[in-house]
Amino acid sequence: MKLTSANINVMVKACRKASKTIIRDFGEIENLQVSLKGPGDFVTNCDKKVEKILIEELLKARPTYSILSEEVGKISNDESFKWIIDPIDGTANFFHGIPHFAISIGLEHNKEIICGIIYDPIKDEMFSAEKGNGAYVNNQRMRVSSRSKLEDCIIFTGGPKHELKNKELALKEYNNFSLKVLVPIRKLGSAALDMAYVAAGRCDGFWQRNLNYWDIAAGIIIVKEAGGFVTDFMGENSYIENKTILVTNSKINKEMIEVLK
Ligand code: IPD
Ligand code: CA
Ligand code: CA
Repeated sequence: MKLTSANINVMVKACRKASKTIIRDFGEIENLQVSLKGPGDFVTNCDKKVEKILIEELLKARPTYSILSEEVGKISNDESFKWIIDPIDGTANFFHGIPHFAISIGLEHNKEIICGIIYDPIKDEMFSAEKGNGAYVNNQRMRVSSRSKLEDCIIFTGGPKHELKNKELALKEYNNFSLKVLVPIRKLGSAALDMAYVAAGRCDGFWQRNLNYWDIAAGIIIVKEAGGFVTDFMGENSYIENKTILVTNSKINKEMIEVLK
């Protein structure tokens, strides 16, 4: 880890502790009890155990910070500092034994994400970033890719969710992009890792509707610190409110916006 600030250390420590539970439970996937929270949205006992460990560790180290976490919701405290947690992003992959999911933790200060980590426990890849100090995967500095023609790019998306009202729009966007790129569009099933992969230069662009704040919070700073762009489908900053996110390297943002128009 090249980033050594106190807050990064707190996140990494919590994450490493929680990931032991994920790895153990992933190995015994058939024994997990699964409850259905809504169509296509499975919550496993593991999600809840992992969230509990993360929250306990983060509160132990930073008792005054607030928390927003997928399963428990809000824990209100000093609102100027807030941890935004997704205990397992890619639960459907996890549940089906597909080794592609991550823990995601972002830290908001005065409504802006200032640092974040996304940890893939199976590949042991820790993506991290801190405002002004760059983005890393394990000890290696990350930069977004430099591909400048959409046609040559590899792009990702996710969804549409089962209950999504704008399903037709999402499918239309998929269709429009698929006419532009030579390599077929990828859908890997973890929005947090999709964003981390843009930061790492593995993916050139990612768009998706209807993500929640915990899916993207850590990814926002990781992509920005790797030199990438995070906007809504119009190229504006309202991606959290509008629930439409476009994440790209610094070259293809405009071309992707044209397709989304
Ligand atoms: C999901 C993943 C997936 C995305 C879904 C999310 P979860 O999060 O990020 O890639 O397509 O919209 O809900 O439920 O696995 O934490
Ligand atoms: Ca998620
Ligand atoms: Ca989740």
